[in-house]
Amino acid sequence: MSLCCWFILLAFIPEALSTDPGVIVKLTDKGLEYGRQLGMAVIQKQLLTIKVADISGSESVSPIGSVEYRLSNMHIVDVGLPKSEVDLVPGSGVRLFIGNAFIMSFVLKDSGSFDLNVNGLTISTSIAIKSDETGRPAVSTVDCVASISSVRVIFHGGASWLYNLFTSFIDRSLRNAIQTQVCPSVANAVSQLNSQLKTLNVVAQVDQYAEIDYSMVSSPMVSQSSIDLSLKGEFYNVGKHQEPPFSPTPFSLSSQLSNMLYFGMSAFTANSAAFVYNSAGALSLYITDDMIPHTSLFRLNTMTFGAFIPQVAKLFPGLLMKLLVQTVKTPVITFEPNNATIQATGTVTAYAILPNTTLSPLFVLNLETSVSTKVFVREMRLAGAVTLNKMDLTLRTSYVREFQVKSLDNFLQVVLKGVVIPKVNGEFLYFT
Ligand SMILES: *[C@@H]1O[C@H](CO)[C@@H](O)[C@H](O)[C@H]1NC(C)=O
Ligand SMILES: *[C@@H]1O[C@H](CO)[C@@H](O)[C@H](O)[C@H]1NC(C)=O
Repeated sequence: MSLCCWFILLAFIPEALSTDPGVIVKLTDKGLEYGRQLGMAVIQKQLLTIKVADISGSESVSPIGSVEYRLSNMHIVDVGLPKSEVDLVPGSGVRLFIGNAFIMSFVLKDSGSFDLNVNGLTISTSIAIKSDETGRPAVSTVDCVASISSVRVIFHGGASWLYNLFTSFIDRSLRNAIQTQVCPSVANAVSQLNSQLKTLNVVAQVDQYAEIDYSMVSSPMVSQSSIDLSLKGEFYNVGKHQEPPFSPTPFSLSSQLSNMLYFGMSAFTANSAAFVYNSAGALSLYITDDMIPHTSLFRLNTMTFGAFIPQVAKLFPGLLMKLLVQTVKTPVITFEPNNATIQATGTVTAYAILPNTTLSPLFVLNLETSVSTKVFVREMRLAGAVTLNKMDLTLRTSYVREFQVKSLDNFLQVVLKGVVIPKVNGEFLYFT
């Protein structure tokens, strides 16, 4: 394809069309349970910051008559959340239920002090989870109900004998005052979480060539048993967001639910990586003799090649050689269950290393190869056992006499299996 048409093709694939994800992450209710434990610590901290508004008024207490009262500076000293649950709300988000909670507070006043115990606090709130316009998660409280079954105030010192006469009245006012402040403070906790979510990174640098965009392409799908996150999962050249000439196709994860987290990567993600590394010119490898396995009978020198191409030994006697293996177009990766296949088209250029270190080209071969990897997860890393399906070599250019490429097959298989594949394996199949 000529250069002009290549760019026209790119121009006709608008970014907005590709809303299918490259990566899907499924968080099961086991994963959610783990999240609940983390979340409760945040909510507990938030409840500790509740500022109970001052309460004042006057009440007619018999037989004393009218009594003016004012309670101020109430501080919460302890919050207990012994029982909580998180449930999935299909199509929306999660529901958080906190039951049987208690709040203890202590206030010191000029005229004495009092202990306040709030018991049987119940909070039920629904939190919607969406994707914001930047692909980051955004949470919001949909509803919240809080109730308190009892409030007990005990006064010490000063005029406590007087206050204790009408605690039941104060209990009731306090119960209302606190009850009305619980939901706003839950909403506060959620909106604080939101501002943290706004700062989440959605692009991570992979290495000097590539970065990966893992922003959400749509709002999470919440079902009865899991939250599925649809992530872009697209590799880009660092600092240059050029779209590849292909887009993601729909895929789904298996409906397994026994683990906390499932992670599904599409061939699109792998192909976008291949596109990025190929356009960065990173898919090339110099091979020198010291990289050939020590157990190999073939060495990378003009003597070995002289056995197949006598002219090489004659023109360049006793020299080490160097091979340059590089792709000529973006390799194509296809996925089948437990099996990833990479088809690559490239060239192998052979050089003799002259005594003054100049490289003298001997020949260039076309290489068509296909390797498959059985994909599995080992120690939290994606691992693969690679097998060579196909290796076709043809002569492209010879700077020496024409020769039978077939005769080099064995040697080049050793190079491919012993040097190139382990290298590819190391760079592409071991994600941490
Ligand atoms: C993987 O898929 C490729 C391409 O379809 C096939 O040639 C190869 O035999 C498969 N390998 C395994 C181990 O299933
Ligand atoms: C190295 O040696 C070759 C052959 O003798 C010669 O053609 C080439 O110019 C030399 N290169 C340098 C950098 O000296």
